[in-house]
Amino acid sequence: MDRKVKIGASLACANFRCLERDIRALERAGVDYLHIDVMDGRFVPNFALNADLMNTVKEMTTLPMGVHFMIENPGRYFATFAQVGSQMITIHQEATTHLQRTLGMIRELGMRAGVALNPATPLSALDYVLNDLDIVLIMTVNPGFAGQPLVPVTLNKITDLRRMLDRQGLDIDIQVDGNVSFENIPAMVEAGATMLVGGTSSIFRKGIEITDAVQRIRDLIAVHSLR
Ligand code: DX5
Ligand code: ZN
Repeated sequence: MDRKVKIGASLACANFRCLERDIRALERAGVDYLHIDVMDGRFVPNFALNADLMNTVKEMTTLPMGVHFMIENPGRYFATFAQVGSQMITIHQEATTHLQRTLGMIRELGMRAGVALNPATPLSALDYVLNDLDIVLIMTVNPGFAGQPLVPVTLNKITDLRRMLDRQGLDIDIQVDGNVSFENIPAMVEAGATMLVGGTSSIFRKGIEITDAVQRIRDLIAVHSLR
């Protein structure tokens, strides 16, 4: 199984006064993908990125893009986001009434399908959809805002999910999002995370260059990843 830990950059945390400069730095740094937060002001009390912005980004870079929908009934928008270059779509279990069918819709459009779980949602919510998904996103903060502290118990959830997937021989990525900081990355990677979303805690942290931040993450992965 491919246990390579991938580095994703949370685009909502970039500097929009000079977005292209940040994107070039992310390319130079060799991040694996861009993480695009989409919020509807209902499922979470905030708004974030959209398909028009993704279309602009698609014209600037060939970096893969994955959408993290924090919206109710996300199925309505899959085709639109596929068209603007999304290669992965992650939906929240808590926001999706017909989860199994909706995951199938993502795959039918040729994208990798992901399910996100809020900190309070148990792993058992995934028991009957494990064959329908490619990525599980463990939210390590409550979604909606950058700059929040880690909910510590979510580290146990990563460990439990890793065990569950290994026991069943499933090759599913474990993505982590929220306060993925230089301080928290070691524990996250040791617990079995395979996709890291870097936001204001790491890749876009004040006082450090994007390229240096990504190198620092890569060094932490090398030391702490499971073999
Ligand atoms: C929420 C977003 C942000 C983003 C922010 O879904 O995706 O939480 O990761 O990163 P931090 O927590 O480092 O500011
Ligand atoms: Zn996100």
